[in-house]
Amino acid sequence: MSETISLSLTINGKPHTVDVEPRTLLVHLLRDTLQMTGTHIGCDTSQCGACTVLLNGSAVKSCTVLAVQADGEQVTTVEGLGTIENLHPIQQGFWEKHGLQCGFCTPGVMMAATDLLAHNPNPTEEEIRDGLEGVLCRCTGYQNIVRAVQYAAQQMNQQVAAPEVAAEAEGGRG
Ligand code: FES
Ligand code: FES
Repeated sequence: MSETISLSLTINGKPHTVDVEPRTLLVHLLRDTLQMTGTHIGCDTSQCGACTVLLNGSAVKSCTVLAVQADGEQVTTVEGLGTIENLHPIQQGFWEKHGLQCGFCTPGVMMAATDLLAHNPNPTEEEIRDGLEGVLCRCTGYQNIVRAVQYAAQQMNQQVAAPEVAAEAEGGRG
């Protein structure tokens, strides 16, 4: 039996301690060990980006990361974005703007978009295309994906602005 290593990591805000082989890839830990199958595998050449997750807030292709490299770290997968009842603005954007067809690339695109909008809340169309270039989509032609991310950016900026406007109004009354 091959050697295993115990590692502890936080996935979508929840702590996990698991035993893995040293060669286990993060994507296999997520899908096979933890049954978190929202993260997809679309290639064996590290090119498609369907496996994209956030590692400490930065988008990584989880098929290029060893599980042991995530020891002690924070991982966010598409399961951690929102819920059916309370979609994340990025998920809402894909719904509103028809940003998917078969949906195979969609988890990876959404996680890349999450990283992009966290670092650049007002991206231009070119910046969106650049930010998502690590994830390939065979169906959509990307146009509606760009619209979905623009929609999400607008929604997220409004959510940030709303408390600020309320605080200003409150201050003005004082
Ligand atoms: S599965 Fe294709 S880049 Fe990871
Ligand atoms: S929606 Fe089918 S691969 Fe992107």
